[in-house]
Amino acid sequence: MSRSRTTEPAAVNKQANSDRQGKIPGLAVVVMAAGQGARMRSKQAKVLHPVAGQAMVLYSVGLALRVAGEPVAVVVGHQAERVRQAIDQLVSDKKSARVSIVEQRKQLGTGHAVLQSRPVFGVGKRGAPSSYLILNGDTPLLREKTVRELLRVHKTERAIVTLLTAEMDDASGYGRVVRAPSAERSVVGIVEDRDASAAERAIHEINVGTYVVDGEFLFSALENLDPSNAQGEYYLTDIVRLAERAGRRIAAVVLDDPDEGLGVNTRRQLAEAEQVVRWQIRDRWLDAGVTMLDPASVWIDATVTIGKDTVLYPNVTLEGTTAIGEDCLVRSHTRLTDCTVGNGVEILDHCVCTDSQIEDEARLGPFAHLRPGVVVRKKAKVGNFVEMKNTDLGEGSQANHLSYLGDAKIGKRVNIGAGTITCNYDGSRKFQTVIRDGVFLGSNTQLVAPVTVGAGAVIAAGTTVTEDVPAHALAISRVVQVNRVGWAARRRALATAVPGKAAKKPVARQSKSRR
Ligand code: UD1
Ligand code: CA
Repeated sequence: MSRSRTTEPAAVNKQANSDRQGKIPGLAVVVMAAGQGARMRSKQAKVLHPVAGQAMVLYSVGLALRVAGEPVAVVVGHQAERVRQAIDQLVSDKKSARVSIVEQRKQLGTGHAVLQSRPVFGVGKRGAPSSYLILNGDTPLLREKTVRELLRVHKTERAIVTLLTAEMDDASGYGRVVRAPSAERSVVGIVEDRDASAAERAIHEINVGTYVVDGEFLFSALENLDPSNAQGEYYLTDIVRLAERAGRRIAAVVLDDPDEGLGVNTRRQLAEAEQVVRWQIRDRWLDAGVTMLDPASVWIDATVTIGKDTVLYPNVTLEGTTAIGEDCLVRSHTRLTDCTVGNGVEILDHCVCTDSQIEDEARLGPFAHLRPGVVVRKKAKVGNFVEMKNTDLGEGSQANHLSYLGDAKIGKRVNIGAGTITCNYDGSRKFQTVIRDGVFLGSNTQLVAPVTVGAGAVIAAGTTVTEDVPAHALAISRVVQVNRVGWAARRRALATAVPGKAAKKPVARQSKSRR
């Protein structure tokens, strides 16, 4: 199967790579993802909620994998198994074995969460990481560039802890960054919203939840945390105060764009994050040479790729692992989920396609529905109100109108007449229909599977095919037509006859034109 995936995203990645400097030796990463996220009011763990089609936690894990020269630990707890599965998916896609999942059985706070990761790193032994990047699992807008800047500042300022902060108009819910009154205004601590005094609540500089901490300091500090606070939790943020008391240097980087520091605690913040990420994705593909007539109405998941000179009309939705080639046209109100689309493909309005493959120069729609497992081969056409499932439509073949094609293997240059139906299901089991090259199916044909139509055969319109058709044969199965000359006229005459008189039925006479 030749999958014509676009090559363009590689070029995009190259561009993004120019501000990526690869993995940093000695740097380990901890991602905290064990919390329930009660403020979401959800049955699902917060970090699994998708942003642009991708579970929130995967933004942090993906970023971790791009920068870490040492292992990445992800701390899971609430719905641990499901979070683990989401991460496994990403990690197996990236063929990376550097992620260790550790469980925090009771969610006793962010400090306690990080402490659980200690066994991953061989702390105290030779070769243990020289520094740790710690990420919240609920900050999907954080950029790699920013993290690298944080690491740079940590190094140049010889700090023991470096944190990322942001100036928020509405700082409520966040930890506030407390600075010394001295001219230097160095950071002295972080106070959680619920523990803050009125004066501290008035601070607009917030803790984003992204930290770089020295290897020799992190775990010894975590062991000294004290949960005497409003939530009775072990706060990771208290290591800042511990560093300050030990007279160690604390550095901070303030975000230029506070949006990037958005922590998703509520559905409102989830919606905000979604909007920001969606625009980042649109901008990325516009920059890569994709045309969008109305970008705001086009929805592209984080995991989608699109080739250059492809044109997206308003209200197109591209989801999951969809990969579109170059020079394609996708008209309005079409949704593609986990589809592979070749080059020069035209998809007209109102198509819904899932887990299917559409090869070069094929044409789809309007109103086509491809359910999982469909392959539309090169230059094939699928038209109005055609539903397909687990079907391979051969090169140059056409199914232009009103059909259901399920569990079918269809050869090259086949014409599927309007109203063709594969009867693939007997109420309990599914069967295959095979239609070989060059077959012509007349309109309103039913194929009762399992059945094979040989190469070059013709199926007369209205035929119900129940037996295999030999190559180059004509199959016809329909009641022979009868024409009753004058019958309709006589019936009309009877209908208008005087009431009361006995009405006779029009007598049927055999027509001479009978075949
Ligand atoms: C945290 C910070 C706060 C900061 C904010 C930024 C602490 C104490 N507070 O608050 O200063 O402004 O993030 O968004 O760190 N988690 C665990 N185990 C736990 C608790 C939490 O793994 O026991 C995980 C959560 O899944 C989440 C992350 O840690 O991914 C942050 O937890 P959350 O409860 O959202 O912390 P905030 O109250 O937002
Ligand atoms: Ca949070």
